[in-house]
Amino acid sequence: MSDDGRSRVQVSLRIRPVGRGDLKNCKVVVQKSDECDVIIDDEKIKRSYRFDHVFGGGQEEVFETIGKPMLEDAYKGFNVCLFAYGQTGSGKTYSLLGEVGSEECEGVAPRFVRCLFEEAQRMVDEDADLTIRVSLTMIEVYMEKVRDLLTPRQRGQEPESLEIHEDPRRRVYVKGASVHQVLSAERMMELLRAGNANRQTAETKMNETSSRSHAIMQITLSQEFASVEKKDLECVVSLVDLAGSERQTKTESTGQQFEEAKKINLSLLMLGRALNSFSERKGGDAFISLRESKLTRLLSESFGGNSKTWMLATVSPTAFNLTETISTLDYATNAMAITNKAKVNKRLQEAGGEGAEGGRGATGEAAGVAGGGEGRKGGGRGGTARGAGCTATGRADGVLARCSGVAAAGNASAHSTRQHRPTTAGRSR
Ligand SMILES: Nc1ncnc2c1ncn2[C@@H]1O[C@H](COP(=O)(O)OP(=O)(O)O)[C@@H](O)[C@H]1O
Ligand SMILES: [Mg+2]
Repeated sequence: MSDDGRSRVQVSLRIRPVGRGDLKNCKVVVQKSDECDVIIDDEKIKRSYRFDHVFGGGQEEVFETIGKPMLEDAYKGFNVCLFAYGQTGSGKTYSLLGEVGSEECEGVAPRFVRCLFEEAQRMVDEDADLTIRVSLTMIEVYMEKVRDLLTPRQRGQEPESLEIHEDPRRRVYVKGASVHQVLSAERMMELLRAGNANRQTAETKMNETSSRSHAIMQITLSQEFASVEKKDLECVVSLVDLAGSERQTKTESTGQQFEEAKKINLSLLMLGRALNSFSERKGGDAFISLRESKLTRLLSESFGGNSKTWMLATVSPTAFNLTETISTLDYATNAMAITNKAKVNKRLQEAGGEGAEGGRGATGEAAGVAGGGEGRKGGGRGGTARGAGCTATGRADGVLARCSGVAAAGNASAHSTRQHRPTTAGRSR
């Protein structure tokens, strides 16, 4: 991917191994044939597909191929997004999260988080005046309702449904979603586990919820340099575990079934349509479709917008799942037609501040990012961010804190605050 900002969505395929969920003596019909190629060799269907990468190994390979470049781009100030798409049981959650804490089986997210904090430590050691702040928001979209995954859920109670808003510059954000300042990889893992568990609790209560809900983990990374020569940067890292694609495949039709599909998972249907229209018109009117559902609205920057985006398509290798597999491979092929316009996002601190190209800045109240920038770099900078209540006190453990008001007390985790500002950095359209 080049640094000029124009970059095609990078699409990889992962074929999960034959496993517990498969029938005995099931026939394997999907195979990696080359670094970028996969073949389907069934009695009736013989096809081949080419992607940017086809995975043959374990979790480490996925991180090296996708997670590492994402991390490098995030530190350069680009928004980055990885979304996992595939049938339920094909390995989306395994690839993104995996077994947190297991060296071999950890997914992209925990590996990413560890490296993010290691890099932060390294950079702060090198430049004592650098401040790096990391925060996490985790939401899910279920049946067109947006819910916070990091606020405790009450047994038997529907989680609060949150609204998507746009600020005057058309940047999308989830009003009221909790933003958690995080100071260590360990704390971030705890939150990722907790968020995912919230998703799974709902699953047991409401049959199959997880296969129909999309989980979005959003990490905001900001870098503030003392030197005037270096621009402060802020970007959003989005990791998206999409709902299982099988319903969509089975019900994407007309009349009654179409209505049903819309209710079951409008988001996935609309995402598919957007991908289709990108593919057919090479980027033409797809933005219209992106605005039609919660998920696609939330991810509108990730498709054709201000983001570098990776798609990981996951499939099962068996004949039993072949219809779903072909559908996933077609989706993934469509996604390869999307070109994004990623920009380096400069951090804005002034309330309502304008001007920084592609920046996200604090419009009105700045949640999550501690305000009080102490007027570094001359008087222009560093008005106290209003109303967020997030100027923390107490121990700064050195990694993320040089400036005032960054570190939280005690548990090196920081507290949460509610979101009143965009979740994605500046729109470019
Ligand atoms: N590449 C893989 N290697 C080993 N096990 C895998 C792999 N992909 C998936 N699995 C296993 O298959 C099962 C289903 O995977 P999961 O990630 O939960 O599917 P999804 O999130 O797509 O519904 C899990 O038990 C998981 O551990
Ligand atoms: Mg899953």
